[in-house]
Amino acid sequence: MSNVITSLDGGILTITIDRADKKNALTRDMYQSLASAFNDAEENDAVKVIKLNANGDCFTAGNDISDFANQQDSQHIAEVSAFMRALLYCSRPVVAQVHGMAVGIGTTLLLHCDLVYCEPQTRFVLPFVNLGLVPEFASSYILPRLAGHRKAAEWLMLGDPFDAAQASQFGLVNAVVDNDTLAAHVETVCQKLAQKPAFSLKHTKSLLVNNKESIDQHINDELDVFLEALTTEAAKEAFDAFLHKRPVNPEKFR
Ligand code: COA
Repeated sequence: MSNVITSLDGGILTITIDRADKKNALTRDMYQSLASAFNDAEENDAVKVIKLNANGDCFTAGNDISDFANQQDSQHIAEVSAFMRALLYCSRPVVAQVHGMAVGIGTTLLLHCDLVYCEPQTRFVLPFVNLGLVPEFASSYILPRLAGHRKAAEWLMLGDPFDAAQASQFGLVNAVVDNDTLAAHVETVCQKLAQKPAFSLKHTKSLLVNNKESIDQHINDELDVFLEALTTEAAKEAFDAFLHKRPVNPEKFR
């Protein structure tokens, strides 16, 4: 089972992350499926809009930490990159429906979506420093431009969770919508977009996101440091602590 479900209806391609028992932590297979779903959509004129959502009680707990811990080469990063670049270069509007927690890449990927809606209880976190890692996929490029240096520094350096109200205040989400109406709200937004002329939508998006080369270059710069960070003792200690459900040893986490 791929843990990523797709369905196309009325011009809306819904891509659903579906690994609820592991809080939708994203595995290599799932990144591959997500990349394929976005790449296939580019080739399919029937797709006007892409909706990204998740099953279970959590949008996603981010990268599967056992994949990080088992990393022997950069193959895993290649699969994440394929997905994130497919998202970055996606010509269709992407609408995200977020609930529960959006951890790590779960928050990072929202920076590459066009419209984002969440529930009042949704929590976001960019915990990279707490795992001995660094920001990825242009979060250190887009966040300061979106939320200002101070807020970006707070979110990326402290790595504490923040709530939907803050996410809304600093431009990470378009609106916070009640739990029982979120799905209907997002569907209505997608239906509205699906009625717009495809040419106008596509070119409006490309005019809005007119710095893809700079973003792409920054992704490479971040990845160079990220790959180095993965080999540090601090990162190895953080992964092992999570997988063995124990606190980190401060002696090893420097
Ligand atoms: N990678 C691998 N497995 C994960 C995971 C991740 N990122 N996040 C959760 N899981 C697994 C847990 O190990 C647990 O598995 P088990 O049932 O076999 O023990 C299961 O999903 C449920 O998670 P649990 O931690 O018990 O749920 P919770 O509701 O108490 O907490 C989170 C939810 C998201 C706060 C917590 O799971 C968490 O902090 N996850 C790690 C997030 C993270 O650091 N991601 C990496 C970002 S770069």
